[in-house]
Amino acid sequence: MGLGYLVLSLFPGIDLFGEAYHREGFCVVRGPELFLGQDVREWQAIPSRFDVVIGGPPCKTFSHMRLGKEAKHENLIPEFCRVVGEARPLVFVMENIQYAPVPMVPGYQTVSYVLDSHKYGANQIRKRRFTFGWQSDGLDGCPFVPEKCVPRETRKTDPFPTVLACEGHYPATFTAGTKIGRMLTITEVAELQGVPELAEKYVLSRGKRAPFRLEFAYELLGNAVEMTVGRVVARMTLRGLESLAGSTSDKPPA
Ligand SMILES: C[S@@+](CC[C@H](N)C(=O)[O-])C[C@H]1O[C@@H](n2cnc3c(N)ncnc32)[C@H](O)[C@@H]1O
Repeated sequence: MGLGYLVLSLFPGIDLFGEAYHREGFCVVRGPELFLGQDVREWQAIPSRFDVVIGGPPCKTFSHMRLGKEAKHENLIPEFCRVVGEARPLVFVMENIQYAPVPMVPGYQTVSYVLDSHKYGANQIRKRRFTFGWQSDGLDGCPFVPEKCVPRETRKTDPFPTVLACEGHYPATFTAGTKIGRMLTITEVAELQGVPELAEKYVLSRGKRAPFRLEFAYELLGNAVEMTVGRVVARMTLRGLESLAGSTSDKPPA
């Protein structure tokens, strides 16, 4: 377990990415989030305090560019890189769609993997690219190696297409709802994203008020890192940190 390693989670949203690291034993601190009125562009990181910086900058820009549409949203990957440059962590991990630019931070080398949640046991085909960066003066060779996928015969046989942030906005014909011919319920979205326990918190239940409008809950869950693959990435990070610590006698976990 990643006990003792401190993680800064940028662009947290509901932070399933950070939660995956937390579940693997890391200590996670959340950075600024726009919907809480905090803008990463007005934020600076403390140097050499965090072992790991993680984040999934918004991907709408890159999906629009890929479809040949005008990009209406700012590319915030340079902001992710700026904060990593200030924080100087041992390792950074950026999640995004496959077509997004690869983050480049002076003094770090990178390796990227496209991981599919379905191949790790989830009931959803969700391919996301994870880029791992580590300080160039560390280990020779790559410390980040993907885990083996689960055997084919144990994978879900008829998985859902990728759950999207717009799952609660559009008719089912555009999104994961195509599989069942109707809009997914928030309970189904939470299950497909690997956090069934959140469904109850996101709907009016037992007379309690939900924390968000339902449409927003769909958006937050659809934007998030799917939990199974998030935990795979957290474990890859831990093994990478251990190799780096072994090769440089750098800060071991407390
Ligand atoms: C793809 S989502 C991140 C989801 C998160 N990784 C998770 O697993 O739940 C990107 C987040 O970045 C936030 N965001 C967009 N622009 C921002 C800015 N300028 N400063 C801080 N956060 C921003 C969005 O509100 C959104 O919640």
